[in-house]
Amino acid sequence: MTAYDVAGLPERVTVYEVGPRDGLQNESAIVPVEAKAEFVRRLVAAGLPVVEATSFVHPRWVPQLADAADLMGLLGEQGRDLPVLVPNERGLDRALELGLRHVAIFGSATETFAQKNLNRSLDEQFAMFEPVVRRARDAGLDVRAYVSMCFGDPWEGAVPVEQVVATGRRLLDLGAGQLSLGDTIGVGTAGHVKALLAAFADASTPTERLAMHFHDTYGQALANAYAALECGITTFDASAGGLGGCPYAKSATGNLATEDLVWMLTGLGIDHGVDLDAVVATSTWMAGVLGRPSPSAVVRALAPAPPP
Ligand code: HMG
Ligand code: MG
Repeated sequence: MTAYDVAGLPERVTVYEVGPRDGLQNESAIVPVEAKAEFVRRLVAAGLPVVEATSFVHPRWVPQLADAADLMGLLGEQGRDLPVLVPNERGLDRALELGLRHVAIFGSATETFAQKNLNRSLDEQFAMFEPVVRRARDAGLDVRAYVSMCFGDPWEGAVPVEQVVATGRRLLDLGAGQLSLGDTIGVGTAGHVKALLAAFADASTPTERLAMHFHDTYGQALANAYAALECGITTFDASAGGLGGCPYAKSATGNLATEDLVWMLTGLGIDHGVDLDAVVATSTWMAGVLGRPSPSAVVRALAPAPPP
């Protein structure tokens, strides 16, 4: 593909792969742990610099990821460098027991989703996260923080940017290194992305501390990523094959597909270090494991045709 550089966009972007965690967490049929390990290994081998592996949440809340410790056991030393979600101290303890080095907490910008996803009020979630971040940092771990419902919430409607900035700032103030802004139900549009990032800039949040996490429910994820590139964002969460969703937000569908993002970045001449063909082959294989085709336009365009 010929690349056409656009002045003012970043030269390099980090693609933060969330397929094994966000991509699979919503699948109702349990994916065998060996297949999850192969999924992770293939994504790492495809050059994805970060692959979020799983979640140390309550197994009853997310049964698909109840095998988190087994998965990390299968991944061995390679797994220690892969981030995992931990909502509370119990989750952190489980990650520490396995010698993991990167964890992520996940907060909500809205009251209703905090209750539904974490069984905590908006304010109580910070009390739950505070010892997690403190203890993780004391142990030398790197901590990312997600904010969910940054654009809209299925129960509360549009979410004011000030509310998102206030939530995000509180998570950064706890000591999180990076803040990933989630459009959990995929209702954001490009102008809204710019307004939200302008509000974070007004609150003196350095752009390099922010990542964007788009779901593609309304087909806006790539346009939103482009808008964020124009604002200088250099970390984008994406899920191989466009898998994904949140079990506690019924209108959430797949994440921005890694392949769609990589195709756009390549066309813009932005370095990403990802082997697109290898990710497409991985997503095609995973579509076989799940028994349905990938929703990603780029996977559909590039995947080898099935035999006649
Ligand atoms: P709770 O029921 O309030 O937990 O759930 P609790 O603190 O009252 O503890 C109750 C029992 O659970 C205790 O056991 C704990 O030990 C146990 P007991 O003493 O009764 O025998 N327990 C645990 N066990 C294993 N691992 C743990 C754990 N914690 C407690 N970590 C909790 C609170 C936070 C645990 C629960 O609400 C939960 O697990 N929620 C997770 C929901 C989730 O994973 N959602 C999807 C991820 S978020 C997302 O997808 C959005 C994102 O992609 C960004 C975006 O798109 O916006 C990140
Ligand atoms: Mg998500």
